[in-house]
Amino acid sequence: MSEERLVSGRERPEDLPLEGSLRPRRLAEYPGQERAKEQLSIYIAAAKSRGEPLDHVLLYGPPGLGKTTLAHIIAHELGVNIRTTSGPAITHGGDLAAILTSLSEGDVLFVDEIHRLSRQVEEVLYPAMEDFCLDLVLGKGPSARTLRLELPRFTLIGATTRYGALTSPLRDRFGVVIQLQYYSVEELVEILMRSARILGVPLDPGGALEIARRSRGTPRIANRLLKRLRDYAQVRADGVITREVAEAGLELLQVDRLGLDHVDRKMLRTLIEKYGGGPVGLETLAAATAEEAETVEDVYEPYLMQIGFLQRTPRGRVATRAAYEYLGIPYPEDRAQDNQIRFF
Ligand SMILES: Nc1ncnc2c1ncn2[C@@H]1O[C@H](COP(=O)(O)OP(=O)(O)OP(=O)(O)O)[C@@H](O)[C@H]1O
Ligand SMILES: [Mg+2]
Repeated sequence: MSEERLVSGRERPEDLPLEGSLRPRRLAEYPGQERAKEQLSIYIAAAKSRGEPLDHVLLYGPPGLGKTTLAHIIAHELGVNIRTTSGPAITHGGDLAAILTSLSEGDVLFVDEIHRLSRQVEEVLYPAMEDFCLDLVLGKGPSARTLRLELPRFTLIGATTRYGALTSPLRDRFGVVIQLQYYSVEELVEILMRSARILGVPLDPGGALEIARRSRGTPRIANRLLKRLRDYAQVRADGVITREVAEAGLELLQVDRLGLDHVDRKMLRTLIEKYGGGPVGLETLAAATAEEAETVEDVYEPYLMQIGFLQRTPRGRVATRAAYEYLGIPYPEDRAQDNQIRFF
């Protein structure tokens, strides 16, 4: 895969061996997401003390912020088994029925990319979530009968990068809905120091700070950059990732001060130079950067919006003054007025 994807939060095959070993196992070992952790620890303790399964949980947020990690932690804290699958993997209602009937009382069923479940599968899921039962249809036509099958009481944990793509009946059936936030630089430093300890990488605090600043608030990116810089430090320095080593290595990887890469810069530049700063539609922007619209929407835009470089308006995407300044392009002053008329 090309370097330009280095800072996307998306999971890549080479992340996998790393992710297994670096995933925190308990809430207390999981830095960041304080509000989410506090809520979850209360609900988990309450469910345990009542001897009931935890309410269904929906986790949403950009890739690489720790949804899968958190799902495993929840199961671990509850002391139950976790069964993992994903929206696209369940093609028929029957597949889901087979999974549901194989669960034990209190188990967690984790469905990643839950927005990609088919309509037919969702229909099977509704009564399972609500009443812990399956409605089976036996036979066809006028002689068809339905049969209710009881299921063990379980906890569904759904994860998605696109909350808006969930149907509202599905959304409504989750008792706990948690939005994961981008991490602060301090939290990323903590995550990096922990990862470095586990991997045995000599990382000094200045190096950690530099990596954290350029990780787009995303632990997966922080861990990935750490791994690349370990190689760089071994070959080009004495093995220790200091601030200077991190800076030089990140320069080589073309990850800039804000953690933006080729694709981000190309997107902003296209928006400004070809389309006068917008508004421009998502599809046009995606075509200009040779990325898929979904990737632009899920991976690139959320961070550019977070740092205030991009706005989504009903008429399309708009580059902000900060984006012009970052690229060193003078901001057309008539634009400021123009935008005011448009927005208000
Ligand atoms: N709070 C955290 N502390 C330490 N490491 C974390 C934390 N959150 C995530 N990570 C690390 O970041 C990586 C990605 O996390 P995870 O796979 O849980 O993200 P995700 O939200 O499920 O992403 P995706 O949307 O791509 O499925 C893992 O290696 C994990 O160990
Ligand atoms: Mg995941």
